[in-house]
Amino acid sequence: MSVSIKSEREIELMRQSGRILARVHDELGKAIRPGISTWEVDALGEELIRSYGCVPNFLHYNGYPASICVSVNDEVVHGIPKKTRILKEGDIVSLDAGLIYKGYHSDAARTYGVGRISQEAQQLIDVTKQSFFEGIRMARQGMHLHDISAAIDNYVTPFHYGIVRDLVGHGIGTSLHEDPQIPNFTQKRKGVLLQAGMTLAVEPMINAGGWEVNFLDDGWTVVTKDGSLSAHYENTILVTDGEPEILTILE
Ligand code: MF3
Ligand code: CO
Repeated sequence: MSVSIKSEREIELMRQSGRILARVHDELGKAIRPGISTWEVDALGEELIRSYGCVPNFLHYNGYPASICVSVNDEVVHGIPKKTRILKEGDIVSLDAGLIYKGYHSDAARTYGVGRISQEAQQLIDVTKQSFFEGIRMARQGMHLHDISAAIDNYVTPFHYGIVRDLVGHGIGTSLHEDPQIPNFTQKRKGVLLQAGMTLAVEPMINAGGWEVNFLDDGWTVVTKDGSLSAHYENTILVTDGEPEILTILE
């Protein structure tokens, strides 16, 4: 396994890629309301990405048929947008989006409530988001990759949620998926030593029930095995010798 260290020039391109993706997410978030189809969310996302002169990196990735992954309720990730899937009040929806700017990839996900949602659903969304921030406090030069994973696990576990194990975060740069893999759960090994200049996509996927998932016959959609709700939160970050820089959030 080799983890790429980005040069100053590459870091600047990653920053620009991330900044554009942050804008795309902000716009997509505003569009979420009861009555919109997941297909319309995807169409808007693709249009926004292209409006910045960027390319959606998910489109045709291993044959994925859309630009945005739109995953509703018990769908964990990789939900395929459909004209017939209409968001309704009380749903939760995860939007996972990514783009390429001058050869450099960014990747980020948010989970939103549609209209008014239950307290249970809101807590799942909030805990999933906070687990990302707990994890990346460990993302600095001199720490090990596993410190991120363990911090996420330690934060989430007291809520008795299920941490998805079949899918993990990843390095990112000139490819969408680079080394290392970044589990969201505690493991025995320490993982790679983190160094300034690594760019990572940290992405906890958390279920209200058990951690087990099923892969649907459409070849993409991942759902919780027990039908419980699932939330996803992801940003592309830069490891430095101090606080990590979150590239896909606007200051
Ligand atoms: N965002 C996903 C990830 O973090 C990638 C989705 S690839 C797609 O790995 F093809 F499903 F879009
Ligand atoms: Co990702």
